[in-house]
Amino acid sequence: MKKIVTTALLLTCFMAFSQQKTIEQNVDALLKRMTLEEKIGQLNQYTGDNAATGPITINPNKQSEIKAGLIGSMLNVLGTQYTRQYQELAMQSRLKIPLLFGQDVIHGYKTTFPIPLAEAASWDLDAMELSARIAATEASASGIHWTFAPMVDIARDPRWGRVMEGAGEDTYLGSKIAYARVKGFQGKLGDLNSVMACVKHFAAYGAAVGGRDYNSVDMSERMLWETYLPPFKAALDAGAATFMNSFNDLNGIPATGNKYLQRDILKGKWNFKGFVVSDWGSIGEMINHGYVSDSKEAALAAITAGSDMDMESNAYRYNLAQLVKEKKVSIALIDDAVKRILRKKFELGLFEDPYKYSNPEREQKELNNLEYRKVAREIAAKSIVLLKNVSPPGREKSILPISKQTKTIASIGPLVKERKQNMGFWSVELPEVDYDKYVISQWEGLQNKVGNTAKLLYAKGCEIEGDNKDGFAEAIAIANQADIVILSIGEKRDMSGEAKSRSNLRLPGVQEELIKAIQATGKPVVVLINAGRPLIFNWTADNVPAILYTWWLGSEAGNAIADVLFGDYNPSGKLPMSFPREEGQIPIYYNHFNTGRPAKNDNESNYVSAYTDLKNSPKFPFGYGLSYTSFEYSNLKLSKNKIKSTEKIEVSLTVTNSGKVAGEEVVQLYLRDKVGSVVRPIIELKDFQKIKLNSGETKTVKFIINKEKLSFYNANLQWIAEPGDFDIMIGSSSADIRLRDSFELMN
Ligand code: GLC
Repeated sequence: MKKIVTTALLLTCFMAFSQQKTIEQNVDALLKRMTLEEKIGQLNQYTGDNAATGPITINPNKQSEIKAGLIGSMLNVLGTQYTRQYQELAMQSRLKIPLLFGQDVIHGYKTTFPIPLAEAASWDLDAMELSARIAATEASASGIHWTFAPMVDIARDPRWGRVMEGAGEDTYLGSKIAYARVKGFQGKLGDLNSVMACVKHFAAYGAAVGGRDYNSVDMSERMLWETYLPPFKAALDAGAATFMNSFNDLNGIPATGNKYLQRDILKGKWNFKGFVVSDWGSIGEMINHGYVSDSKEAALAAITAGSDMDMESNAYRYNLAQLVKEKKVSIALIDDAVKRILRKKFELGLFEDPYKYSNPEREQKELNNLEYRKVAREIAAKSIVLLKNVSPPGREKSILPISKQTKTIASIGPLVKERKQNMGFWSVELPEVDYDKYVISQWEGLQNKVGNTAKLLYAKGCEIEGDNKDGFAEAIAIANQADIVILSIGEKRDMSGEAKSRSNLRLPGVQEELIKAIQATGKPVVVLINAGRPLIFNWTADNVPAILYTWWLGSEAGNAIADVLFGDYNPSGKLPMSFPREEGQIPIYYNHFNTGRPAKNDNESNYVSAYTDLKNSPKFPFGYGLSYTSFEYSNLKLSKNKIKSTEKIEVSLTVTNSGKVAGEEVVQLYLRDKVGSVVRPIIELKDFQKIKLNSGETKTVKFIINKEKLSFYNANLQWIAEPGDFDIMIGSSSADIRLRDSFELMN
């Protein structure tokens, strides 16, 4: 038997090797036949004319340029009909090199999943991989070869609107999610239901000064390596086919022209064999940065630094040939970039069949698969975070879950009957989808759940923005008729996302005043907060007895929210970002250093690192989320309390569901390196497990601590684990540590 397995394994490796060899031979043979203009054409990407995800440069000659082999890729071209039309133009070119079609399939294609920050709150890596897998299946059935995802930017500043697109503030969680999403999107590259991933934005884009999009980033190399680069490396380890560089300058050099990032780290140290696409117009924007004087210098800086493909700036199109003729750019650099791109086109099978992904029958089948909506509903429910659930004055029980026998329910707020708002930013705008039918509103979710047993009352109450309170009276009136009130408020879907930085994170308009007015009726109130980022809602958090953070949950939002509201799904989400009390606390993140004068508690401020006018702690901490049940942690055991760097510690503990209903708990393992050659965070997430427990059930949870989990970058950028004492903390959040112990790493 063993011999058969070995032979099969050897055969598989040989076949893979020989396939790669064939691809290399094909790439080299094609390259030899290409003119300089055709080579530069492969480095050129334009948007389709149906949609824009950046400042458009009008080019009426796209079609003729495709036929002349002067464009290698398009983005924002959706559907088999349009991709086939453009591909047919490419097949009229001299060498018939197929186009690559890229698209921002960030959280679903037709079936829309929760925004990535919401999915991150599920801490369910399998669920996130599955949602990316379905997104890839739908997108690839619509002619898309390549998604500009996952976005893996670590973000500690909720003023930055693009926090909605990533996995939050933590490097360990962000790295695990990056890996899962790449695996989900790509599956096996070249398969019919696979799309190339594009890891973005390389690098450190989330650290923009002031949380202002596109702004400068300045940080130590150690911070870059320790906090911001690991998710990119995890995505690369997952086999990511492409990277996208970022708009920001990093320590004074724009990422698009940053040789250290793209050649020294990515293509050098990390040995990345795929290709790098610029962000929209980012090559030409180096002129605005003041890093180059004109488009020609921009092209020189970008190609030299390792940007292989130019998205929408035209810098390569109009300058590279001249730069080669002037011997300022070697043809070897051009050839390297072209080969990286051609390699992927061969790997995808596009030379064998340029229309492989543009099959209308498959598109029809895949884009109407109701199974995908079921998955969307499940992950949406898992993404909801229960922030608060206490019994209101005069009531024994907490409000949630709401009994299905409730007679009269008032549903109030500007987002109750919205449909498309639930899609969040970066949902794919499909021309033929009528969102007003396609997305389950929160009102429809209520009707589906209890429409036959409860009397449902509705009032909008107010708009999301503006100071008009005319709707308050109607809202109060229906609240007074109800047994319970569900208030759905928040942002608009496009108040977070790209170029959506906000200096004020409070609930917009008069929404919190509406909450106060409804609360004043004395009725039990549940508040749903729909947003793409952490918001500030201190009065609500302090006074309303039940709060669910519902983010933007996609196509099945209404059903998923109803599943949680009525207990058909026990909420299990945990915050992937710290929620500030005030903007003045930002940047705020859990894994900070201790400083020389740490505040012992939230109220100390005399000669310690604290605010005199505000508590230090966040309103809601990283890793926080409640459940309808409760979990007891016990029996923490370490196999050793002293280890050498070659050894590992087996950690075990038991978790019991001490409540009355089944539920899931994210058991979080944190470490603290007590003393280091550079200061170390007071707490760092190093592992987690999401477990499901029935009421009364106990499970043993096991972790392994090895040298990798004890390592960090020292002042010389060496990745090392230093001998010394470590604290181990097992928690239900970063601020709810249930079990502690310590151990020593010996020399
Ligand atoms: C945008 C975004 C990037 C996106 C690209 C194409 O400006 O920064 O994330 O993939 O352009 O839409």
